[in-house]
This record gives sequence, C-alpha cells and structure tokens, in this order.
Amino acid sequence: MNCAVKIIDEIYWLGTNDRETHLFENVWPLENGVSYNSYIIIDEKIVLVDTVKDTKMEEYLFKIKNLIGDREIDYLVINHMEPDHSGCITAISKEYPNIKIVGNSKTFDFLKEFYGEFPNLVEVKDLDELNIGSRTLQFYFTPMVHWPETMMTYDKKTKLLFTGDAFGTFGTLDGGIFDDEVNLDFYESEMRRYYSNIVGKFGMMVQRAIKKVSSLDIKILASTHGPIWRTNLNYVLSRYDMWSKYEPEDKDGIVIIYGSMYGNTKKMADAIARSIAEEGLKNVKVYDSSKTHLSYLINEIFRCKGVILGSCAYNAAMYHPMEILTTKLIHTGVKDRLFAAFGTYAWSGGGVSNLNKFAEAIKWEVVSESVEAKCSPKADDIAKCVQIGKDMANKIKAGL
Ligand code: FEO
Repeated sequence: MNCAVKIIDEIYWLGTNDRETHLFENVWPLENGVSYNSYIIIDEKIVLVDTVKDTKMEEYLFKIKNLIGDREIDYLVINHMEPDHSGCITAISKEYPNIKIVGNSKTFDFLKEFYGEFPNLVEVKDLDELNIGSRTLQFYFTPMVHWPETMMTYDKKTKLLFTGDAFGTFGTLDGGIFDDEVNLDFYESEMRRYYSNIVGKFGMMVQRAIKKVSSLDIKILASTHGPIWRTNLNYVLSRYDMWSKYEPEDKDGIVIIYGSMYGNTKKMADAIARSIAEEGLKNVKVYDSSKTHLSYLINEIFRCKGVILGSCAYNAAMYHPMEILTTKLIHTGVKDRLFAAFGTYAWSGGGVSNLNKFAEAIKWEVVSESVEAKCSPKADDIAKCVQIGKDMANKIKAGL
C-alpha cells in the first residue's frame, strides 16, 4: 500500500510491509513477513508516532509527503526504540529539522547511543499530557514490554491507544489493515509466535501494563506490528492476558518434541504419540527439533498444556537443538506445564538426564517416569513410552 490509510478523525496509518527480510531480529523466521506500523496525527500540530525500519525509509518518507505536502511535522513520539521502529528517526530529523522528539529519559539514552545527539527533546514522565490542538495525548509508561523505555500513547479524543509492540503480530498487512478487514485465523498462530518469542519473558510486566491501561476507555489499539484492533479488542486482549500468565491456550493440547540423530529417539516419540491417540486425545503434535525452527516450538509450548521432550545423548549432553530449546524455555520462564522425558544413549548418557534436570529447574510437573533406551528402543522401552503416553493423557483428561 503506497498511501496512508485513514484510521479515524485525523489519524492515519503510515505502515510498511516487509516481505524481504528472512529473519526478524536476525533470528526469527518471517515466512509471512511483518509490518512496521507508524502513525500520524494531523491536528493543529502534526505528530508522528514511531517510525519504521530503515530499509523502508524511501517508501515511508514518500507516504508522509504524499499526505501532508509541505507542512512541517511538529512532534515525533517515540514509544519504542528498537530499530525496527526507530530506524527512520535520523531521516525524519533531517527532513524536519525543527521537529520535537517526545520520549522518556530511557528513550533518550537509547536515542543518543543508537543514533547520536538530537536537538529539541521533550522529556515526558509517566501520565504526562501533551496538547496538540483539538486533542490531548497522554503517555503511559509500560517498562519491559519489552524494552525498558517502552511506553504507550493515548489519544483522549478518539480513545485510540498507540501500544508499541504490545498486541503485535508477525505477518504482513495484505490489503486489510484493521482486524475486521483481515482473516484473523491467519494471524492467530503468528501472533502467539510473536508474543512467545519476543515478549514472552516479560509476562509479569505485560500483566502490569494491561492493568495500567485497563481503566482507559479504549476504542482502538494501534500496535507497531500487524492489524489495528477496532472491532475484536477482546480477542487480542484476552490472548495477551492468557499468554502473559503462561496459561496454555489448549488445555487438551500435547506437544512432543524430539532430537534424534538416526531415528531411534524418533521411534519413541511416535510410540508415545500413538499411545496418547489410543487414549482418545486428538490435539497432539510431534516435531523434530532439527527441522522445525525454535520459534515454532516455543509457540507450540505456549499453546499446549502437555509437553513431552525427547533427546538422544550427544557427547555426554543433550542434542544441540534440544539444549537450545530447553535453555530458551528456562530463560523465558514458561510456567505450569505437564512434562515427561524420553530418549536414547549409546555410550555416555546425558540426553534424558539433562531433560530431567531441566524439568526440575523449570518446576514443571513430571507426570511419568522418563525412559532412556540404549542405542535403539527395545520392546520394554517401547512399553515405557506407551506408559508415558497413557500417564500424560490421563493427567490431561483429569484437568479438562
Ligand atoms: Fe517491533 Fe521491539 O520492536
């Protein structure tokens, strides 16, 4: 979309779609791309809210000029300093040298360290207000959602809340920019993958932020990524509330993830999955950690109540992808999952024993005894896998 799109009285979307970048933050796959949403308010004063990634600068400046012509921009409000949103601050400042940059003390620390000195800084405190003509903007600090400087900006006139990354999602905006113009089924999984991998560590801070803005009368949520929420606010708010409490979306969901060099640990995963199916549960997914990117695995663990992990031993430790997955899970602090472990070893062990240590460290409930087969699973190992499946299925059913 090469033009600004009107959202509501004097407020426009100035976002850009990124279908070129392979990895968000150079680590998270962008199979469906991502949008960088910037906004502009044209009141007596003209106010930009956040910018976009520097790779989109030309398109972004064109949209601005196309909309406001030769008028000056009075303010740039920075809700978040991560470069996917701050990447055009320098260009905007050069184009509009009299612009005043609005942020908090932490914003300005990052601003200086990323891009150097800027004149005309307007430092705001939590809940400060800025009148720009017919409306007043109010600033709500939401630290660690997901950087220290993050804040939200509320337009009292239209009851629109500019939320920064909060309520964002992976996935480009392919024509529709509002939640009622797009297929939400497309965004559901990508929103969880975005939340769980980018913001997931900061559940408690997200809870604080939700409580902080819950007293506001909010008609529109305008995030820096993905659709603008004007119809299904409860859809996105309830999901962020659930995920930030680490509550699984699918209480009957079970995910089995394994690391297997030659297919022996995989055989055990398949036996466990079959056993769960025989117990009558259908919401089961099995993943090979060598093939499926970590971000999708974390996404599935946020979705499911039951998590069964398997690893072969590799040089007296866990198999690398499983080691990375479990390290990331502890770092993220995912809570309250039902757990079981399985795997194989040839000479050293280290796969299953480290999975058991992981379970202890993350404090998940272990629902069945782990099984570790030597080289390849024999009949008694498979019988133990079947028992893992039964124990997990029964525990899941008991909680429904
Ligand atoms: Fe979309 Fe935290 O940047």
